[in-house]
Amino acid sequence: MTRDTSGIGAEPPVALVTGGGTGLGLAIARRFAKDGYTLVIASRSAEHLAHGSDVLRAEGGTVLTVPTDVREPAQVDALFAKVKEKFGRLDVLVNNAAGNFVARSEEMSPNAWRAVVGIVLDGTFYCCRAAFPLLRASPRPAVVNIVASYAWLAGPGTAHSAAAKAGVVSLTRSLAVEWAPHGIRVNAVAPGPVRTEGTDRQLWVSEALTESVRSGIPLGRFGTPEEIASAVSFLAGREAAYITGEVLTVDGGQWLGHGVMDLLAQAKGRERA
Ligand code: COA
Repeated sequence: MTRDTSGIGAEPPVALVTGGGTGLGLAIARRFAKDGYTLVIASRSAEHLAHGSDVLRAEGGTVLTVPTDVREPAQVDALFAKVKEKFGRLDVLVNNAAGNFVARSEEMSPNAWRAVVGIVLDGTFYCCRAAFPLLRASPRPAVVNIVASYAWLAGPGTAHSAAAKAGVVSLTRSLAVEWAPHGIRVNAVAPGPVRTEGTDRQLWVSEALTESVRSGIPLGRFGTPEEIASAVSFLAGREAAYITGEVLTVDGGQWLGHGVMDLLAQAKGRERA
């Protein structure tokens, strides 16, 4: 699908996706390329950037890759300076870069905590802050932050990520109000379980765990990166022009099913028995 990007200026609009070289971030970048945007992808890994740009270029996209550790404010400032120099504009910022792993809180080192909170919460703030002058100059600016429903539930085993995502939900709402006078909308997408190379390596570390997660999703399956990308595209686009400070959960109903006893399923089980 190609989005109508008319009315957004003469040049193609520009979208920047952090962590855009692989997995969910790459799916989001591919969606924006299809929507008619020029892409900027940022990642710590040169290998991830090369992969992402190969995929985007093979599909006809225009892409700038910028090696960046979003935990480092100076690198983040340099990223947005590069965007300004190269394109002179930025219309959409997607804060997708994340770090996560499963660990008991009492066994998590301070450095492990800092690594995840630094990428997710500090990184999102640094990017928003540095993007502000460019976004303010855009005719239709939007920020979309990637969070998770454990931000408002609980994240046993991923307390660092849950705390950081909760911070990003709060930041999303604060910025939505602060930046509304500038026309900058700030929203978030909370993906449910999605399988990518990264999540398979960091989260879905056994078949038993994967199956137990799947069985807790009312729609009965993991989401696809493309389904998440579609929600991000919606929130960044003109159809969402009156939405700001919102979190769109795209999780097959997972968080609603969290802890809810499904009496209907149990009754059906009894009928079958
Ligand atoms: N369990 C416990 N501690 C862990 C860990 C794990 N699985 N993985 C990393 N850590 C700890 C390290 O031991 C280190 O702490 P220490 O110095 O006290 O030993 C700290 O976290 C930082 O790890 P390091 O590898 O030095 O930092 P990094 O910046 O290179 O890595 C991470 C960042 C930790 C987020 C790493 O997991 C990563 O880069 N992951 C890939 C991206 C990702 O997770 N995406 C999300 C997919 S769901």
